[in-house]
Amino acid sequence: MCLAELVEKQFGHDAWQQVLEAAGVPATRKFLMIETTSDSDFENLLLATGQVLEWSEEQTSRAFGEHWCTVFAPRLYAQYFKRVTNAHDFLLQMNGVHGRVAQGVPNINAPAFEYEDGGPGRLVMKYCSERNLEELWIGLIQGVGKAYNERLVINRLAKNKVEVLFAGPA
Ligand code: HEM
Repeated sequence: MCLAELVEKQFGHDAWQQVLEAAGVPATRKFLMIETTSDSDFENLLLATGQVLEWSEEQTSRAFGEHWCTVFAPRLYAQYFKRVTNAHDFLLQMNGVHGRVAQGVPNINAPAFEYEDGGPGRLVMKYCSERNLEELWIGLIQGVGKAYNERLVINRLAKNKVEVLFAGPA
C-alpha cells in the first residue's frame, strides 16, 4: 500500500511496524496495491502515521497525497498522466476519471468534483464526498503540481473549495 511505501522509504521499516501497531492493525496484514482499504482502517492508519512520525493530521494527509500522485499513481495509472500535458488539464479530468473508475466496482465510493474553469492559469475546484478528506484532497492537488513540475498556488475559498493558480514551471 502506498502509505506503507511512504513511511518505509522515509522513516524505515520499523516506523511502519509502529504505525500498524498504533492503528491496531496486525503487523502481518498485507495491503494489496489495488485493494480498497476500508474507511476506518484508512483513517486509523493515517492517524497512527501522524502519531509515530509526530506529524499533524494535515501534514500526514498532505504527505500521503503528494506521494500518491508523484510515485504511486504514475505507476498504476500511467495512462491518465500521459493523456494530458499539464496540471490544469489533469485536475479537470478528475471528476470524469473518478466517475469511471467507480462504475460497476462494488464498495467504491469515489468523490466527485465541480469546476469553474478560468482558462489555463486558474481553476476553481470543489470537492464533493461524504468522507470529508479535504486535507488529503489538497495534498493530492499539490502532488499533481509536482507530477507535472509546475508551481501551484492553492487558495482555500471554503472547506471543500479551492482556487488553484498555475504559476509556471517549478
Ligand atoms: C489517475 C488519477 C486518479 C485515479 C485513477 C483515482 C482513483 C481513485 C479511487 C479508485 C479512489 C477510491 C475510492 C474508494 O475506495 O471508494 C479514490 C479516492 C480519492 N481520490 Fe482519487 N484518483 C486519482 C487522482 C486523484 C486526484 C488528483 C485527486 C485530487 C485532486 C483525488 C482525490 C481523491 C480523494 C480525496 C479520494 C478519497 C475518497 C473520498 O474523498 O471520497 N484523486 N481515487
